[in-house]
Amino acid sequence: LDAFKATLDRLTGAYALAVLIEGESELILGARRGSPLVVGWGEGEMYLGSDALAVGPFTQHISYLEEGDYVAMTRTDARIFNAAGVPAERAIVKVAASSALVEKGEYRHFMEKEIHEQPDSVQHTLSEYLDLVSAKAKPAVVDFAAIDRIQIIACGTAFYAGQIGRYAFEKYADLPCDVEIASEFRYRDPALSKGTLAVAVSQSGETADTLAGLSWCKAQGLKTAAVVNVHTSSMAREAEILWPTHAGPEIGVASTKAFTAQVAALLSLAIAAGVARGKIDAAKEAELVKALFEAPRLISEALRMDAPIRNLVQDLAKARDVLFLGRGPMYPLAMEGALKLKEISYIHAEGYAAGELKHGPIALIDEYTPTIALAPMDDLFEKTSSNLQEVAARGGPVIMIAPENAPDPHGAGIRRVHAPDAHPIATPLVYAVPMQLVSYYTAVQKGTDVDQPRNLAKSVTVE
Ligand code: M6R
Repeated sequence: LDAFKATLDRLTGAYALAVLIEGESELILGARRGSPLVVGWGEGEMYLGSDALAVGPFTQHISYLEEGDYVAMTRTDARIFNAAGVPAERAIVKVAASSALVEKGEYRHFMEKEIHEQPDSVQHTLSEYLDLVSAKAKPAVVDFAAIDRIQIIACGTAFYAGQIGRYAFEKYADLPCDVEIASEFRYRDPALSKGTLAVAVSQSGETADTLAGLSWCKAQGLKTAAVVNVHTSSMAREAEILWPTHAGPEIGVASTKAFTAQVAALLSLAIAAGVARGKIDAAKEAELVKALFEAPRLISEALRMDAPIRNLVQDLAKARDVLFLGRGPMYPLAMEGALKLKEISYIHAEGYAAGELKHGPIALIDEYTPTIALAPMDDLFEKTSSNLQEVAARGGPVIMIAPENAPDPHGAGIRRVHAPDAHPIATPLVYAVPMQLVSYYTAVQKGTDVDQPRNLAKSVTVE
């Protein structure tokens, strides 16, 4: 143990270690710095794992090691020490992680299963924040009227969820909201007023950059909140306010149901903020709450589009580059679509605000570069539609995701995927589904490793 501690003192960087020693069959040593590590307490057996989910099939009794902790484990016991080498008490908590939840069941991939779980995961998440019976937002722990700005910090998919949230906070609550990639935020000395609420958004709650951004805000004396899916994670424990999402365990590396759960939480919180700040009256609140609770049904409807999408991707799978376009909240969703496609199919894709097309990306358009447009029937439809005509006029193949009753843009080569018509507040939740299915079936068509794409990890606990 002394040698282990002496070794740890000489290590730099982030790690979570499990050490076996030849000839010592009754001992496992573990240590963490920068990466999470948990001790699982079984009956006559002990476990070390990266998180509660990893040891979930064996035990639900977990001790979370804190930063710099190390542990000496036998078959029946664990002695935990802090970074200074002093014995430390770490509570044994019972977590709700059922191994049944992490089976693929009838599905070919976890990602496919998780896409299909979204009616439930969105419903559960909405119910955390909204009450359908009274058609009201539940009180949101924080006094939104006393806040003058929201700063969302996140990475990857969670960043795009945050951007969708921003549209809602500004539109429905008149609350200024900035969203920044955590790896930039944490190193740029941002100027934040004391009235800023810092909100970390994360599925895992362990992403190193997001956690560092959150801790930085806390150290500045700002109020902090975390929208997280793993409710026992480092961010959940670090933030003053925990705003949970209820997506359940997400196994596929490419985030799907955790994303829509984050969006559902942020949209709901925006309604609560609107009410608290006197920006929406009871009638508007009821309209928005009911509209969000329609989303699970509309998502189920969107899931039924998988057959036409499977046909469409035959061509898409041959593309080298794909452009995703959207306006308003469909713009971050377009970026999320591009991320999803590149993650699992390895096709290069970019998400753009449709209005930016003429400012550069249109130069990419040719007959080999498909454009996928997210075009709900809102007040921006006509503008997106005319962007698609421009693409079609240059010979670019177009896939337009829009309601069935949306008028056809004039132009050859425009193919359609029908998405259910939804209230504007619910549109990002509904349109996420066809976009995810496009990526999923393209990857299946290409035969890539959908659940564990090359070079990617589910939880990025190092910089
Ligand atoms: O666990 P987090 O939500 O903090 O993870 C953030 C990103 O690493 C994550 O969303 C990543 O972009 C996914 N692979 C997206 O599918």
